[in-house]
Amino acid sequence: MLELQDAFARKFQYLRLSVTDVCNFKCQYCLPNGYMPDGRQSFITLPEITRLTHAFASMGTTKVRLTGGEPSLRRDFTDIIAAVASTPGIEKVAVTTNGYRMEKHAQAWRDAGLNAINVSVDSLDPRMFHQITGQNRFHEVMAGIDAAFTAGFEQVKVNAVLLRDLNDGDVGRFLHWIKDKPIQMRFIELMQTGEMDSLFDRHHVRGATIKAQLLQEGWQQKIRAYNDGPAEVFWHADFQGEIGLIMPYAKDFCATCNRLRVSSLGKLHLCLFGDYGVELRDLLEDASQIGELQQRLRHALSDKKATHFLHEGHAGMTPHLASIGG
Ligand code: 5AD
Ligand code: SF4
Repeated sequence: MLELQDAFARKFQYLRLSVTDVCNFKCQYCLPNGYMPDGRQSFITLPEITRLTHAFASMGTTKVRLTGGEPSLRRDFTDIIAAVASTPGIEKVAVTTNGYRMEKHAQAWRDAGLNAINVSVDSLDPRMFHQITGQNRFHEVMAGIDAAFTAGFEQVKVNAVLLRDLNDGDVGRFLHWIKDKPIQMRFIELMQTGEMDSLFDRHHVRGATIKAQLLQEGWQQKIRAYNDGPAEVFWHADFQGEIGLIMPYAKDFCATCNRLRVSSLGKLHLCLFGDYGVELRDLLEDASQIGELQQRLRHALSDKKATHFLHEGHAGMTPHLASIGG
């Protein structure tokens, strides 16, 4: 098998596939004015997703994360899960969701073959949750997490973007919450994106501050598995839950990069920050094009850069993460 590998000997076993740009939340750091429909956009179809996943799996991809926008807004979302999960070589299918439809659908997703859920909960205070996400849906999202456990998910990952003066004082409350729950609570450092105004300067908090606090309180860092995402994970004997820290500005964040992205418009993105995307859709029309598709993927990868350019102040081309799935 010819694996996907770049010039820095990084291998790519992890595909993040956005299935729609549409989102029904208005998170301040992502879509503060809500999703703006762009007329004629047509998102990648189920048959295209099936062909794409087969091509990636044939080149060593073992894990697919479905993202958005909000992926569960697609009416065929359960069928998408089933199609990806039944692709030979795919061992793990995950979703990142705002949790809005989780209470209703967690069981169907599980039955279709979903292995893992990441859900965003930026605050445990319903009013702050509303303020950050623009949606007064805290209780629905929490009920969705319960539904995921009932459906048989052994662990749920919960994402909170750290925001100074909004939720950075809530870390203790989050820790208390996961004491007896199999939740991996992930604190994500705010990333600057193309359309972001002064929000970054007003609310950016360094993840390293929390790391120091955790280590001081007896949390210990776990070793990464080969197809894990970028989180640094910590455990503590007194806690059933774990903590994950995602620090895109940390030194060497990119050294363990193992993931590629495909947007909901069918373009390959080598990095969250920075590129125009390589068109794939013309090679997703028929299963017989798989050879050409593999070749295009391999060729594109030879261009992948060692690291992002966030430190130099270049957020790249990404207007907000809803356009590429975070
Ligand atoms: N910085 C950090 N995290 C972000 N997310 C969306 N936009 C940003 C940003 N600018 C997070 C969401 C979700 C995940 C997909 O990415 O909160 O948890
Ligand atoms: Fe990989 Fe780009 Fe993310 Fe760095 S910023 S880890 S290169 S995807």
